[in-house]
Amino acid sequence: MRLSIVKETAATEPRVSASVETVKRFVGLGAEVVVASGAGLASGVSDADFAGAGASIAADNAAAVAGADVVLAVRRPEAAALTGIKPGALVIAIADPYGHEAALAEIAATGASLFAMELMPRITRAQVMDVLSSQANLAGYRAVIDASAEFGRAFPMMMTAAGTVPAARVFIMGAGVAGLQAIATARRLGAVVSATDVRPAAKEQVESLGAKFIAVEDEEFKQAETAGGYAKQMSAEYQAKQAELTASHIAKQDIVITTALIPGRPAPKLVSAAMVAAMKAGSVLIDLAVERGGNVEGAVPGEIVVTANGAKIVGHLNVPGRLAATASQLYAKNLYAFVETLIDKGSKALAVKWDDELVKATLLTKDGAIVHPNFKPADAAASAA
Ligand code: NAI
Repeated sequence: MRLSIVKETAATEPRVSASVETVKRFVGLGAEVVVASGAGLASGVSDADFAGAGASIAADNAAAVAGADVVLAVRRPEAAALTGIKPGALVIAIADPYGHEAALAEIAATGASLFAMELMPRITRAQVMDVLSSQANLAGYRAVIDASAEFGRAFPMMMTAAGTVPAARVFIMGAGVAGLQAIATARRLGAVVSATDVRPAAKEQVESLGAKFIAVEDEEFKQAETAGGYAKQMSAEYQAKQAELTASHIAKQDIVITTALIPGRPAPKLVSAAMVAAMKAGSVLIDLAVERGGNVEGAVPGEIVVTANGAKIVGHLNVPGRLAATASQLYAKNLYAFVETLIDKGSKALAVKWDDELVKATLLTKDGAIVHPNFKPADAAASAA
């Protein structure tokens, strides 16, 4: 079985889909591992490191993909990059399928079976494969580090001979994986931290990290969590009440970090331009949802916007990629854990169990067609039903 690691082609993607550790483990499983030259450089892993772990180095992606049974990537490769791939080869990546059905159809046409790691069910068995958690956790940490770098003041309270410096006030909006790590990191730096979320379960988690929970706790709030543990889209009425509460709170904050997402939908707008305008000069807003439409009005993907009142709205792209070495190490482990379930240990060959719930949840394309129920073209979905 040949397993290939491609070099990411997006300019904003420094991560890599393998680590020295996972290459060693794949070799241990009997795989022939091929790494495209330079694939790990931006994450601090050289070709020599990968070769030392037992991989052979291919000159480029085309050479890596040729003859591969499994292709690992961070982002969904362009279909053109998969030209010449073996029909039935597996391509496993963060496939970003929502709204990209045309790209999925092109990949389907190559004959590859494309898997989306971010669709992995959040069940105990698949926790070690949960890329949303492994990457969001780092994004939450990095958001606080980025905020502290942009903020012209210290985070902790300092009592010095030259005077007392007050602690920074940090407000985290969205207390999922990223938000909870942001709370913990801001607390470690000595900030006074508050947080909000629409899921009632978040309240106890926020408080257990020593932050104050701020939310409109009405009847709708009590029902705001889906069976899968995600947030629902809230009613216009709830959003209005939420906006009123957050407006007065935000005006007193130094740092606002937003992480709110709703799976498969644009990010909810939580911070209006008026709320930003009410903040003090020097305040910093970090919008971790900027790539999904943004939680903060005025956030621009990839830019730091300085507002008329002197606040900064930070819209860094690919925040996990700002910790590329750590993000790659964890992502590689997520991939290894999944691929291990697709291999027969005895024969050391691929043996995908197509009816396994992890496979069914993540498989997007197979045998030339889009097969995932959420992304099938409407006519195909109707005729299948
Ligand atoms: P996410 O990335 O989809 O969203 C981030 C946060 O934004 C969520 O906490 C969500 O409730 C919140 N949010 C959405 N709309 C909002 C609004 N209008 N106002 C304020 N906040 C809003 O969620 P994430 O981080 O992926 O986690 C979702 C849940 O899944 C959490 O309960 C998390 O603890 C749980 N989880 C469970 C796992 C497991 O059981 N294996 C693994 C990882 C997470």
